[in-house]
Amino acid sequence: MEIVNSVKDLKNYLAKEKLHGQRIGFVPTMGALHEGHLSLVRHCLAENDICVTSIFVNPTQFNDKNDLDAYPRTPEKDCLLLESAGCHCLFAPSGEEMYPEPDTRVFDFGLIGKVMEGRYRPGHFNGVAQIVSKLFEAVGADRAYFGEKDFQQIAVIREMVRQMDMPVQIVACPILREADGLAMSSRNQRLTGEQRQKAPLIAQTLKESLNFVPDKTVQEVRDFVVHRLNSEALLSVEYFEIVDGYTLMPVDNWRETTYPVGCIAVFCGKVRLIDNIMYKN
Ligand code: PAF
Repeated sequence: MEIVNSVKDLKNYLAKEKLHGQRIGFVPTMGALHEGHLSLVRHCLAENDICVTSIFVNPTQFNDKNDLDAYPRTPEKDCLLLESAGCHCLFAPSGEEMYPEPDTRVFDFGLIGKVMEGRYRPGHFNGVAQIVSKLFEAVGADRAYFGEKDFQQIAVIREMVRQMDMPVQIVACPILREADGLAMSSRNQRLTGEQRQKAPLIAQTLKESLNFVPDKTVQEVRDFVVHRLNSEALLSVEYFEIVDGYTLMPVDNWRETTYPVGCIAVFCGKVRLIDNIMYKN
C-alpha cells in the first residue's frame, strides 16, 4: 500500500493510475478503523480499480473541543487493517496540509443541514463540507463511499456535490453492527465496560419499534423509543426524529412519506452515539 501525506504526492500517484484509465474509489475516514470502515473499503474495491482511503481527524467538524481531543487515534493499527483489506493508497495528511490557512467557507444546505445533527452540533456539517470538498478535490475519485450510520451526513454530502457540481458518485453502504446490534463506530472504543453493555439497547429499541408501524402513530413510536431509552440510567436521548429519508423533513403521519427513517442521537455516559432505522409503512 502506498502511503502519502501531501496532496501533491497523492495527485502524482493518482495521475499515473488515471492515465491508464483506472477507476478511482475513495473512502474518507477519521481513522480508528473498524469492520464498518473495512466494509466500505471492500465495496470500493469491488467497484473500482484503485481504492484510496484517507485518515484525517478533521478539527473543523468538532463543535466540542473535548470531543476532538478524546477522538480515538490508532494510526499503526489502521495502516495494518487497510493493508490487509487490499487498499491501494492511504492518504494521511497533517492539519497544516489540509488547512494551510483557515477555511472561511460557509455552506448552506437548507433544511437538510439544519435539523437533527445540524441543530445539536452547530457548525458540524459546515466542517464536514469543508474537509470533504477539499478531499474530493485532492483525490478526484469516480466514486466515494460513506456508511449509512451517518445518514444525515450522506444527505449533506450529496447536496454539497450537487451544489458544487462535483463529478463524483456518492455510494451509501449499509450499517455494520456488532452481534448484539450496536452500530459499529470508532466512538464505541470510548465506552466503559458497563456502558458497552447498555449501548446495544439503542439498536434493540429501534428494531423493536419496527413492529409498531403502521398501527401506532409516529408520535407514539417516538415516545416509545425515547421513554424506553431514557429509563436506562446510563442512556440519555438527545433527539429521536422520524423523517422523510429524502428531504429529512420530520413527519407526523406515516402516510406523509414512502421512506420513513428514524434517526437518533443518544449519550451513553459522555459518549455520543448515533444510529438510524428504516421503517416500512
Ligand atoms: O464520517 C466521517 O468519518 C467524517 O465525517 C468524514 C466524512 C471522514 C469527514 O471528516
